[in-house]
Amino acid sequence: MRNQPSRFQGQIARGLPGEDTFREKTTMRAVILSEYGGSDVLRVVEVPTPEPGDGQVRIRVAAAALNPADALIRSGALASRVPVRDYYIPGLDVAGTVDALGADVHGFTVGDTVIGLSDWPDTQAGTHAEYVVLPATAVAAAPRHASPVEAATLPLNGLTAWQALDLLAAADGATVAITGAAGAVGGYLVELATARGLRVVAVAGSQDEGLVRKLGATVFVRRSADPAAAIRAAVPGGVAGLIDAAALNGSVIGALADGGTFVSVLGSGPAAERGIRISQVRVHSDAVQLAELATLADAGLVTLRVDREMPLSEAAAAHDALASRGLRGRIVLVP
Ligand SMILES: NC(=O)c1ccc[n+]([C@@H]2O[C@H](COP(=O)([O-])OP(=O)(O)OC[C@H]3O[C@@H](n4cnc5c(N)ncnc54)[C@H](OP(=O)(O)O)[C@@H]3O)[C@@H](O)[C@H]2O)c1
Repeated sequence: MRNQPSRFQGQIARGLPGEDTFREKTTMRAVILSEYGGSDVLRVVEVPTPEPGDGQVRIRVAAAALNPADALIRSGALASRVPVRDYYIPGLDVAGTVDALGADVHGFTVGDTVIGLSDWPDTQAGTHAEYVVLPATAVAAAPRHASPVEAATLPLNGLTAWQALDLLAAADGATVAITGAAGAVGGYLVELATARGLRVVAVAGSQDEGLVRKLGATVFVRRSADPAAAIRAAVPGGVAGLIDAAALNGSVIGALADGGTFVSVLGSGPAAERGIRISQVRVHSDAVQLAELATLADAGLVTLRVDREMPLSEAAAAHDALASRGLRGRIVLVP
């Protein structure tokens, strides 16, 4: 890593030994980065296919969403949290089919259609590949009424929204604000908060008012330079809770009533004031929550939004597209 040639680059250049059948069994195509930087550091190459260990399942990837977290992996923003390796495979979200089982895996059979979340940076197991190995505890049955491309948009952002709402712990019927309400995390937040009986104030651009209202928002607040004042204008006493999916941080804490709760999606939230509790969500895989999310998606209570589908070979172009503002669904890579 860090500008050194990958150990596997030599093999790629020479070609791996064996016949095509051998190659298919032991290597796979994957997006890799062997140095940090812009989208031009991404390459699609053959690497060894991972083998499942105890408690793990191997998934044949049908679709893998691209998230802002993948841009962080690529840029090196997570470098201090991962061991130095020859290369990394990005990708956290996956939808696919169970292809092999390690020892001590219960509840899965080869051929099951599943979704899962790779706990990057802890795992460094990337889903932007033909196969990925994940702990069985990170995998759940896929929604039955969604395509793999749609299903691949659920794990990371659905779980982030779920876990942020758990941290918020708002009382039934409480009024809560969600910034970035039209985004991937924000959209799930609006729907899940509504399903939990909360009254949602959604902060988003004017062009997204119809969308966030359809997702369940009761009050719409147009995004602006002073979101705290804008929310206070709509809810004069301030809101009981706020989940800041647009990472507005200090500029929006003033929207909270004294003693409210602020949940940040960043590593650090704003300075506490007026008895406000500050929490940071740090998403982690959870098969039980993932199964619940899949059930909610099947029930039409969680909307799976796809911006576009792109082949794995166009991963670099997909990263460039993700960097542009205004996407209203995930870009999904298909091997
Ligand atoms: N902590 C964790 O565990 C965790 C997990 C997942 C994601 N995240 C983080 O959560 C954040 C959201 O992720 P995402 O995937 O939902 O991103 P996203 O899809 O790009 O959504 C962000 C949304 O915020 C909107 N926005 C930007 N500025 C705004 C403003 N001033 N007021 C209202 N809305 C505004 C964006 O609109 P435009 O597109 O028009 O700019 C976009 O709709 C990212 O920072 C991501 O890294 C954290």
